[in-house]
Amino acid sequence: MFISESLSVNENGHLAIASADVVDLAKKYGTPLYIMDEDRISGICREYVDAMRKCCGENFMVHYASKAFCTKYIYKIIDIDGMGADVVSGGELFTAISAGFPAGKVSFHGNNKTSDEIEYALSVGVREFIVDNREELHLINRIAKEKETVANISFRIKPGVDAHTHDFIKTGQIDSKFGVALENNEAFDMISEALELSNVKLVGLHCHIGSQIFESEPFAEAARVMIGFIAKIKNELGVKICELNLGGGFGIRYTENDDPKNIFETVKNFTDVVKSECRKNNIDFPFLSIEPGRSVVAESGITVYTVGSVKEIRDIRTYVSIDGGMTDNPRYALYGAEYTVLLPERPLDKKTETVTVAGRNCESGDLIGVDLKLPKVKAGELLAVLTTGAYNYSMASNYNRVPRPPVVMVSKGKDKLIVRRETYEDLIKNDLV
Ligand code: LLP
Repeated sequence: MFISESLSVNENGHLAIASADVVDLAKKYGTPLYIMDEDRISGICREYVDAMRKCCGENFMVHYASKAFCTKYIYKIIDIDGMGADVVSGGELFTAISAGFPAGKVSFHGNNKTSDEIEYALSVGVREFIVDNREELHLINRIAKEKETVANISFRIKPGVDAHTHDFIKTGQIDSKFGVALENNEAFDMISEALELSNVKLVGLHCHIGSQIFESEPFAEAARVMIGFIAKIKNELGVKICELNLGGGFGIRYTENDDPKNIFETVKNFTDVVKSECRKNNIDFPFLSIEPGRSVVAESGITVYTVGSVKEIRDIRTYVSIDGGMTDNPRYALYGAEYTVLLPERPLDKKTETVTVAGRNCESGDLIGVDLKLPKVKAGELLAVLTTGAYNYSMASNYNRVPRPPVVMVSKGKDKLIVRRETYEDLIKNDLV
């Protein structure tokens, strides 16, 4: 039976991911366990690239936002058809480079890049820096001068668009720590300043309005604002901005209440706006980039746990405790995120119970979800949380000195361990005395 693009029920009645039996994988690798469908990830990358090609000709780049899921192997999957990557730290850049991903396709983000990170990024030759603020602009210029080079830069602009999503993941409004504002001329003044500097070259503008956004209007509005600003720079400073990066943030399906648009529709909506605004403002269609993260990896991933106890508190709540929790998935604790859960050994059983799935860490807020529907479940059974491919492994921690789970990639029914399970020895390897 079909559950999603990656998930089905096999002939044993078990949950299967990319045709591999999830119960077998849990036996082979233990739990908790992250499992991801490699072909789904590469399929989505192709969908983004094809959609952008249809809408922009060859004048585009799709950057995978590394923060969603960053391991060496992901860079091998996304290194197709000219795709790039965005990184927000020296660590993400190091991971990409270690995987053999070309630095020339990497853009370097972050609202507080350190001198060390800037030096490192310059030494490996990243494509560009997305500059967040004035101090950083001058720091990049100074370091580039010392290294007798010129750094390509884009500015991160707050387009003044308030997207409908969780407060912690919206970034397009003036009250945000990321980027420079239009409303108070901060962005315009900084661009004028950058044009005077000898060791930075302004190539583009960037914006990112937030994450897990379903409506097309905020993206359209951001595109209108950004094209308007490119026209203003041309008219008032006589400078042609050739590249525009509209960021990521495209929403995906966590539960049946989520109804994302398909990739082509999403891309067509904002590229149509870019085209018409360029015509209106009499400017050339820019080299257009996007940076999807969550939508590339989230739906390809699941996490499999073992149930340790089922605590029924009569007339109050039933807690189903699992062998992982906020250490491998902090998203309920941080955002009240909602997930769909299944029992991999009997995914089709009727969901007759309402339970709270609790983690094994010492926090009352360490939950995976509240009032979730499940069949009556017993200690020792497997439990799968769906749609955990993004912002789970990458946000995992060692709180309570819990080792992080391994990651298994599955392609056409064949599994490959891409990150091994952490050991107790790993946990103490930096403890010096
Ligand atoms: N570009 C920039 C500059 C970003 O800051 C982000 C995400 C992306 C692209 C990718 O956005 P996406 O396509 O993944 O929505 N930890 C949160 C999400 C934080 C997103 C941060 N920036 C969560 O688990 O929901």
